[in-house]
Amino acid sequence: MDRDINLDRIDLEPPPPEAEPERQFYFMEQCRRWVKRRSEELGRPLFACTVTFGCQMNARDSEKLLGILREIGYEETSDEHADLVLYNTCTVRENANKRVYGRLGYLNTIKKKNPDMIIALCGCMMQETEVVEKIRKSYRFVDLIFGTHNIFKLAELLYRRFTEGRMVTDIWNSADAIVEDLPVERKYPFKSGVNIMFGCDNFCSYCIVPYVRGRERSRRPEDILAEIRRLAADGVVEVMLLGQNVNSYGKNLPEPATFSQLLRRVNEIEGIRRIRFMTSHPKDLSDELIEAMKDCGKVCRHLHLPVQSGSSRILKEMNRRYTKEQYLELVDRLRAAIPDISLTTDIIVGFPGETEEDFLETMDVVERVRYDSAFTFIYSKRTGTPAARMENQVPEDVVKDRFDRLLKRIQEISAEVCGRDLHTVQEVLAEEPDDHMDGYMTGRLGNNTIVHFPGDASLTGRIVNVYLEESRGFYYMGRMVPEEKT
Ligand code: 5AD
Ligand code: SF4
Repeated sequence: MDRDINLDRIDLEPPPPEAEPERQFYFMEQCRRWVKRRSEELGRPLFACTVTFGCQMNARDSEKLLGILREIGYEETSDEHADLVLYNTCTVRENANKRVYGRLGYLNTIKKKNPDMIIALCGCMMQETEVVEKIRKSYRFVDLIFGTHNIFKLAELLYRRFTEGRMVTDIWNSADAIVEDLPVERKYPFKSGVNIMFGCDNFCSYCIVPYVRGRERSRRPEDILAEIRRLAADGVVEVMLLGQNVNSYGKNLPEPATFSQLLRRVNEIEGIRRIRFMTSHPKDLSDELIEAMKDCGKVCRHLHLPVQSGSSRILKEMNRRYTKEQYLELVDRLRAAIPDISLTTDIIVGFPGETEEDFLETMDVVERVRYDSAFTFIYSKRTGTPAARMENQVPEDVVKDRFDRLLKRIQEISAEVCGRDLHTVQEVLAEEPDDHMDGYMTGRLGNNTIVHFPGDASLTGRIVNVYLEESRGFYYMGRMVPEEKT
């Protein structure tokens, strides 16, 4: 937990406080008593299972939700045969929605055997009116629905569900205040995401995020720095600064600040060894930031820089506000300043009106930039976005063919590029015991490449020197060497 809360001291006699986070502490205590009573009746602990769909933002939100659930007395489980199952949903592509509906059917079969089970849904998908209507109509067994702006209210909503005994829905269209200082249950003891801003104002024409995550709001630098200091004191060595568009951080703060200023201040925090951030929008990536990356030794030599398409014409239709040439020029500037930087990207194939020529422009960018890795997506039509109203959608078979060609080339290049540090000694953050090989640990280089090396769980969270013996395409096999580099 990132902050000590003593729920025992909370007086439940008066009505709930109006101010946050005190109001939520009041409801956490109410829920805690309810959970305790129920658990005594059953003669066993109550279990909660949280399933996260989608991006790092959602993963971090889930840690906050878990922090609240833990505080009110639930034990965590990964088994959906639990007393409370919470899906933190994603809606960036249609497939994400389909997966949730599919799994809800399965949850219903579990609930039939355990009618007291509570099923809760939150996250981006719940910000869509049609989704909530469909669930209220056809998935009556769901107990609790809330969105992206009010996750901090989980205890209050849960308490309403406990006392009212019927489906509770609470979706906000926007959120102006950012509620600080709620409990968080981190997945990893040694690394953590840190939200620096919420929402997005870019309105790329294919993207639903600005509609479901709302307008851009930055956290105050002091709040971010205080959180990171607390994390460092708690043993965290790596932070990932999170935002849909971190390069426009700070614009709407009462005292405007820039992302590079923030980065320099995080770099000074004792105990933090690695700083990552995502996502960067190419149009907002300033020279000031490149300088800051160069100067700050803890900032990892890795940048996720979504290109989306290599065709300037399609980029215009996507409302990305840069051209192919501007993107390539930015990559040149980055590489001139930080020669060993590794670049990764996101690419969408089959945006409406994409021709073979447009697609070849994307292939050309891939050839020129030589990404360490790239996430490739088939364009998915999202109702309500401008691109969904465009007429010339590309036939499925054409998209599939382009997608396969792109993926093949990305993988070939990636295998060549990722081996660049072979036969050198590098610092590796040991993350967890290897899933497949007993006696091995899995860790990451600063540039995010995975390394497997002999070692045991006691190394977890430590940064160790590893000699990279063999490159296997996307990862290395290595062995630990003593502190001094050989
Ligand atoms: N279809 C396909 N991919 C999408 N993305 C966002 N919206 C869509 C969509 N409608 C991709 C973008 C973004 C990543 C998070 O998801 O590439 O960078
Ligand atoms: Fe979506 Fe574009 Fe905002 Fe990224 S920058 S979240 S792609 S609208």
